[in-house]
Amino acid sequence: MNKIIFGENVFDRLNKTIAKNSYSKVFVLLDENTKRHCLPILKKYLTEFITIKIKSGEGNKNIDTATFIWETLHKNFADRQSVLINLGGGALSDIGGFCASTFLRGIDFINVPSTLLSMVDASIGAKQGLNLQNYKNVIGVFNHPKCIFVYPDFIKTLAESELKNGLAEIVKHALIADKKLWNKIYKIKKFDTDNLSKLILSSIRIKSKITTKDPHEFGLRKVLNYGHTIAHAIETFSMNNDGNNFLKHGEAVAIGIVCESYISHKINKFPLIDLNLIVSFIKKHFKKYHCRWDEILLIKNMSHDKKNNSRKINFTLLNSIGDPIVNCNCTDELICESLNYYKNAF
Ligand SMILES: NC(=O)c1ccc[n+]([C@@H]2O[C@H](COP(=O)([O-])OP(=O)(O)OC[C@H]3O[C@@H](n4cnc5c(N)ncnc54)[C@H](O)[C@@H]3O)[C@@H](O)[C@H]2O)c1
Repeated sequence: MNKIIFGENVFDRLNKTIAKNSYSKVFVLLDENTKRHCLPILKKYLTEFITIKIKSGEGNKNIDTATFIWETLHKNFADRQSVLINLGGGALSDIGGFCASTFLRGIDFINVPSTLLSMVDASIGAKQGLNLQNYKNVIGVFNHPKCIFVYPDFIKTLAESELKNGLAEIVKHALIADKKLWNKIYKIKKFDTDNLSKLILSSIRIKSKITTKDPHEFGLRKVLNYGHTIAHAIETFSMNNDGNNFLKHGEAVAIGIVCESYISHKINKFPLIDLNLIVSFIKKHFKKYHCRWDEILLIKNMSHDKKNNSRKINFTLLNSIGDPIVNCNCTDELICESLNYYKNAF
């Protein structure tokens, strides 16, 4: 069950939650950016806590960072009545949630998402985990945070690329579940923190509703994978080949949305007019990727995807906007065609 508190006054509620649960110790997991931009706000409300600082970024979502977090909890005598507050983006809450879920067989954790992507997506829905070498989220558990406190003003200090990163997931939520929201989004000419803030709550509601109905991804939750089969393969490729300039998750999702909308058009008769609208929106708001990928390698990456069954690459596609269909398969040729479609569209 997702317990989400949203708005300007969330930290009063956070304080009350901590007092109500009589935690023995409060730990705050943060990185250099959330220490600078978010901790000063949290400090106005929370007085007694121990910070655990990790390095930001996807490259640190690994077992070494997890070991550091477990060791720091242990060294500071964390017990089963302790709580870990994850103050950060999705990479931080994924690893923090995983460490809390496995430390002493599980202590409580609370998410305070600080990026747009983590507000609308990563902090909600109980998936916690880390990467194995460069394979995304291969190690992990399903476990809900005690609560999620969403303070929308945190997005004000985000770089523009981080706003776009979150925008991709907002767009995905609208395309799979809310045609009215999509109709509103595609008319927005320029995204800034003001108009993005106004989209956060609707997006949270979509993710929360779906993951509450199907927390363990037996069926319905798979709709959230729209755009992600291709996105994960491109993200892995980019992490291995683009040095420090690797694609952010949302940037890869934007490419995945174009390719999988194309596949939807080809096999599910997803309307061409909607495909064109999606492509022109992504072209306008997301930067073009260099596309120096090896298609065979991408398909190999896709066949490692956790969501596959019987070794077939599994897609979530669209029949129409707001009407997704899960467990779809298609030929390798069509996957290549969709990647070329993206390349040629930009
Ligand atoms: N568990 C899930 O269901 C789920 C869903 C989607 C994505 N994810 C995961 O989320 C991760 C991506 O999350 P992300 O996009 O939030 O990236 P991120 O966590 O890497 O954060 C991006 C950057 O923003 C900085 N930052 C965070 N808050 C800030 C603030 N308020 N002001 C300035 N800088 C700030 C961070 O320090 C970091 O450098 C990926 O690892 C992805 O796999 C998980």
